[in-house]
Amino acid sequence: MKTDLTPSHLAFVPFVSVHNMMRLVNTMGAEGFITELAAYIEEDFKRWPEFDKTPRVASHSHEGVIELMPTADAELYGFKYVNGHPKNMKEGFQTVTAFGVLSSVSNGYPVLLTEMTILTALRTAATSALVGRYLAPEGSKVMAMIGNGAQCEFQALAFRALCGINTLRLYDIDPAATAKAKRNLEGQGFDITTCTSGQEAVEGAQIVTTCTADKQYATILSDNMIGRGQHINAIGGDCPGKTELHKDILLRSDIFVEYPEQTRIEGEIQQLADDHPVTELWKVMRGEAQGRRDAAQITLFDSVGFAIEDFSALRFVRDKVDGTDFAEPLDMLADPDDPRDLFGMVQRAKG
Ligand SMILES: NC(=O)c1ccc[n+]([C@@H]2O[C@H](COP(=O)([O-])OP(=O)(O)OC[C@H]3O[C@@H](n4cnc5c(N)ncnc54)[C@H](O)[C@@H]3O)[C@@H](O)[C@H]2O)c1
Repeated sequence: MKTDLTPSHLAFVPFVSVHNMMRLVNTMGAEGFITELAAYIEEDFKRWPEFDKTPRVASHSHEGVIELMPTADAELYGFKYVNGHPKNMKEGFQTVTAFGVLSSVSNGYPVLLTEMTILTALRTAATSALVGRYLAPEGSKVMAMIGNGAQCEFQALAFRALCGINTLRLYDIDPAATAKAKRNLEGQGFDITTCTSGQEAVEGAQIVTTCTADKQYATILSDNMIGRGQHINAIGGDCPGKTELHKDILLRSDIFVEYPEQTRIEGEIQQLADDHPVTELWKVMRGEAQGRRDAAQITLFDSVGFAIEDFSALRFVRDKVDGTDFAEPLDMLADPDDPRDLFGMVQRAKG
């Protein structure tokens, strides 16, 4: 039996820090990262029935929500810890932070621990733009971006990489957020217009993205703001009592969702009857349901973020960092040489 105190190689779990995630994104380029990640997400949507699925486990408070998002296929189990606290930003904290774990189904040992705050912004953007490829009008070039916080630039880059957007119309209730987004996106080949209202932002836009944070039923888009043929990518309404669109828009739109059981609790459609028809995106991606039907149709991606997208992101990161210095070994798992001698291992560590 091993008597030295060196942890066994099984104790070490590859860990991707924030620093290394930023290195990875900058090495690949954000658009390259998003494009490759979107392919993983699409692959997993196309094998949707293979996954264990459940609406995320949410712990709500007056200030925000803390959620666990688990899913598994036959080989891997993944979960993300994520919060959503709209009041955070004013207090100098991020609205959304996250980390996640991927584990082997066969023995339950973790195979990856990673930061997921940056990764969530990337996977949300990758999912939005991937869905945009199925639903946005042919040849879309102009996107309105309402809400210019942490998610904004990732969304813009994703829609350029996957859908060919080249013109952005930015609006945020806080002009400092719009100025920040413009600064970050300038010099990257976009034609950028800053707007003084949501109404101005949506003018001439084929795609309208809403990514605001407000813990209430908000009306970021009212019925008169949306016209025939537009695609709405609504990502900010993702909790009970937290929506962005006026109900009348929903009644005029064809609504596409990730996992209806979760979206009916958290999405824009919480405003509608429980049996209001929606289309599941995995079926569209498999060719089993129709995406955009014609140029006049209003399509809505009622995005809330589902665990399988995080699973895809974890799988993607694991493949990318394997055998590289983007991951560092973390002594995370107590793994005694004699599996039953956990106590003995602790005792030997007394020195
Ligand atoms: N669907 C998903 O998968 C998913 C993933 C991540 C985040 N989100 C949600 O997206 C939203 C944005 O996240 P974030 O990290 O960018 O938040 P953030 O706090 O960094 O930015 C939100 C921005 O919205 C602006 N805003 C608030 N009310 C507004 C209004 N009425 N009109 C215009 N702008 C307004 C704020 O000024 C702020 O700049 C949050 O609600 C978050 O929960 C969804």
